[in-house]
Amino acid sequence: MCGIVGYIGERDAVSVLIESLKKLEYRGYDSAGLALLDGKGKSCVFKTEGEISRLESILPELPARIGIGHTRWATHGKPNTINAHPHVSGSISVVHNGIIENYLELKESLESEGFVFVSDTDTEVLAHLINKYYLKNPGDLAIAIRSALGEVRGSYALSVLSEEHPHELIAARKDSPLILGLGEHENFIASDIPAILKYTNRVIYMENLEMVRVKRDSVQVFDLDGNPRFKEEHIIPWNLEAAEKAGYPHFMLKEIHEQTNSIHETLAGRLQELEGDVIFDELDLDKEQIQNIHRIEIIACGTSFNAGLLGKYLFEGLTGIHTDVDNGSEFRYSNPVLTPSTLVIAITQSGETADTLAAVREATSYGCTTLAITNVVGSTISREASNIIYTRAGPEIGVAATKSFISQLVVLYLLVIHFARARSMMDADRVGKLLSELRKIPGHVSRILEDKENIQKCASRFAESKDYFFIGRNINYPIALEGALKLKEISYIHAEGYAAGELKHGPLALISEDVPVVAIAPQGHTYDKILSNIKEVKSRDASVIAIADSDDGEIAKYVDVVLTVPKTDFILTPLLTTVVVQLLAYYTALERNCSIDKPRNLAKSVTVE
Ligand code: AGP
Repeated sequence: MCGIVGYIGERDAVSVLIESLKKLEYRGYDSAGLALLDGKGKSCVFKTEGEISRLESILPELPARIGIGHTRWATHGKPNTINAHPHVSGSISVVHNGIIENYLELKESLESEGFVFVSDTDTEVLAHLINKYYLKNPGDLAIAIRSALGEVRGSYALSVLSEEHPHELIAARKDSPLILGLGEHENFIASDIPAILKYTNRVIYMENLEMVRVKRDSVQVFDLDGNPRFKEEHIIPWNLEAAEKAGYPHFMLKEIHEQTNSIHETLAGRLQELEGDVIFDELDLDKEQIQNIHRIEIIACGTSFNAGLLGKYLFEGLTGIHTDVDNGSEFRYSNPVLTPSTLVIAITQSGETADTLAAVREATSYGCTTLAITNVVGSTISREASNIIYTRAGPEIGVAATKSFISQLVVLYLLVIHFARARSMMDADRVGKLLSELRKIPGHVSRILEDKENIQKCASRFAESKDYFFIGRNINYPIALEGALKLKEISYIHAEGYAAGELKHGPLALISEDVPVVAIAPQGHTYDKILSNIKEVKSRDASVIAIADSDDGEIAKYVDVVLTVPKTDFILTPLLTTVVVQLLAYYTALERNCSIDKPRNLAKSVTVE
């Protein structure tokens, strides 16, 4: 986590760095800092605990044209001012995203050489280590950084400023994202694209173990042995407005509304209703290879895991391929049973989740074909997986994943249909009908959004609850998990997602009149079963909120509140019930006055283990 930025050019460096950091606050926001060279080339460091706005309030007017900045999500040491970045040693200031795993041994040895540590962070060793090599061999900052990085184990995206080198910034990356923004007589360093979009849409993606010397009129990229690397420049097709709130009070609400469009984008150019198929130009798997897949292993974390669980139901139900789903964090330390005929699918909106990346590397070492489903072009996973499908949801800033989740679901539907066709498990007629139903989903989502007042009313009615349950069956069980995750993440209400049939095996003991139960109950082959589960909790005095089809005339008899979704093919209902649970979580958090886009203790992309 954490966001880093750097700037060199002709603008006011303070405001560029502050603006850029604000766009990265989703990566962490417990403390922040800047290091700048003032008009006389003297290094000045400002840092504080709290959000960027607090840092902004302590900054003096400063004629700086070069600087680096950081917004932190604490891993080592409390979120306080001393632990905030930049960390300084002699003339060197460093900002860092990642974890230095061997920092304790490095710290001990640096202390024995006389370096004095002031913080509890792992990053401070980088500052002292770079300074140590610089003092030994003054003159070339890049060489000192290269020598220091040769000693560290762990992950980093870092940027270094030195008053000995007032015309350059050096940055490097390993396992943490880093991009360069290119301008006219100015250049930028950042963890992610929104940070620089106000100034330029020309970017270079830094690869692992690359280092860059950034000057006002040039960027030179090297590997860690100092060999020059040729880098391609990319133009970002979306603008700053796409990454801004556009009049919504929160990014999360904006992103929930954008789902109508993001579903369109995910579908665009991929449906062939007449032929009854789906095309994925980017997929390097032919019909025979798809027929030879014996097992699918899906790896993901958090919300992406919930998408993966729906994937399991769909792959097994429609293609007959045995499918398992694992958390990246568990998979990487298990002894996975993988063979070259296992297809490993990694789902990660950011493409940077450390546990998911490590699991993909593990799978690659078994000779498996890997396929990543991600939202971020140029993310680490897009370079490591053998196949990549982009969800095309557009930039997602709210920490709670919404439109990226629904686009992951849409990609899974399309992939499953494509596999089912290749394995002759679905006929063209059935596929054609399903695809035309899929095309109607954005319209159905709009209907749900139009009805959001009802969801808001329901959210306020139960907003003071201490506990919440979400129950679902079959393909709506993953949505029960997602509803519970969304609610706990942004409203801080304890919430559990359960397969409805499991309630009686323990959790029923927790059901009482104070516990609302959200039952996701569109009509399908498990409808009668979930009605029985609703009766079970009703007879223990719970309040039940049903998410049901708009033409369901029966369910209202058994529940306290009915939130409806337009009628669609049962198999597609998760795409609609998702929107209801997202809005329920959003309005509950709003009622409770929570920090919706930046919930406590969390960050948008979890780039540490
Ligand atoms: C979702 O609302 C969460 N913020 C979180 O669970 C997230 O889905 C998880 O960290 C995985 O992220 P990824 O999709 O970027 O890999």
